[in-house]
Amino acid sequence: MEYRRLGRTNYKVSILTIGGFGPGVYPDAQAAIKAVENAISEGLNMIDIAPSYAEAEIRLGPLIKKYRDRLVVAEKTLERTYEGAWRELKTTLSRFGVNSLDIYQFHAVGSLEELNKIFSEKGAAKAFLEARDQGLIKFIGITVHADMRVALKALEMFDFDTILIPVYAAAMTMPRPENDFRPVLKVAMDRDIGVIAIKSIAKRRYVGEKRYTTWYEPFDTQEDIDMAVWYTLSQEPVATYAMAGDIRLWPMILSAGKRFKKLSLEEQSKVVEVFREKGAKPLFPENL
Ligand SMILES: NC(=O)c1ccc[n+]([C@@H]2O[C@H](COP(=O)([O-])OP(=O)(O)OC[C@H]3O[C@@H](n4cnc5c(N)ncnc54)[C@H](OP(=O)(O)O)[C@@H]3O)[C@@H](O)[C@H]2O)c1
Repeated sequence: MEYRRLGRTNYKVSILTIGGFGPGVYPDAQAAIKAVENAISEGLNMIDIAPSYAEAEIRLGPLIKKYRDRLVVAEKTLERTYEGAWRELKTTLSRFGVNSLDIYQFHAVGSLEELNKIFSEKGAAKAFLEARDQGLIKFIGITVHADMRVALKALEMFDFDTILIPVYAAAMTMPRPENDFRPVLKVAMDRDIGVIAIKSIAKRRYVGEKRYTTWYEPFDTQEDIDMAVWYTLSQEPVATYAMAGDIRLWPMILSAGKRFKKLSLEEQSKVVEVFREKGAKPLFPENL
């Protein structure tokens, strides 16, 4: 497994990250825990998790404590107020039984109104800064998935250490300001902000039966997953991709990660074309 520097955090993270949503929602808790242990044994050293991922924190808390020295733990909160963020951070720390988190992120920020709330006098940012001063969190990040213009605005408003955004080939079948990750990657590159990618294997919103716990229809053959994961990991400065939210897809994603090959620009365009022919579409904006 390849490891990359996660921007200014200087963490050397595996190019695949354990995404917490999948193990949180999978019906069989033991299978979910086993999937995470397997990912760790394959060399993954970063986990992305949130209180809102169903059972994830409860199920994976003991593993996080057990492997604390080996894992970069990226947590988040949907709370936007000072009190709410403090309350949630303390709950997470006690649930995991750890003294600190590596990265704490404003989770799923979707609008300028939310950004303004976070950075207002009684907003969550104040709690994050205090927690960082007290050594409870080391780095501050943000996650944005619906509108890359909001991500750009956030990077103007605060000097984030990391950003988590969708970086996926299907977006490039119809680039729009909402889904175009390239300007965000450019800012991240210029300012040495660590980039965590999501949605790599997304094909489109579900058109038929919902066969996976991912909220989008994923590519689900090894060949397509290879192309999707390699496309994402070929975009600079993406450091790592958080594996999709259905643990049944993880073996193919792990295989793609272990065999990662950097794609040339020509190969990347080819992936977008092939995916377009297969019916891939961006997830945002919603009604494309
Ligand atoms: N904002 C984030 O921090 C974020 C977003 C997506 C994924 N991830 C990470 O990446 C891993 C893989 O996830 P994925 O992106 O490939 O998606 P996925 O497999 O479907 O995993 C579920 C993720 O989809 C998002 N989601 C659920 N319903 C949604 C909706 N109606 N509209 C937009 N987003 C929706 C959730 O984002 P939320 O986390 O925002 O609830 C959730 O994390 C997850 O396990 C998680 O660790 C993080």
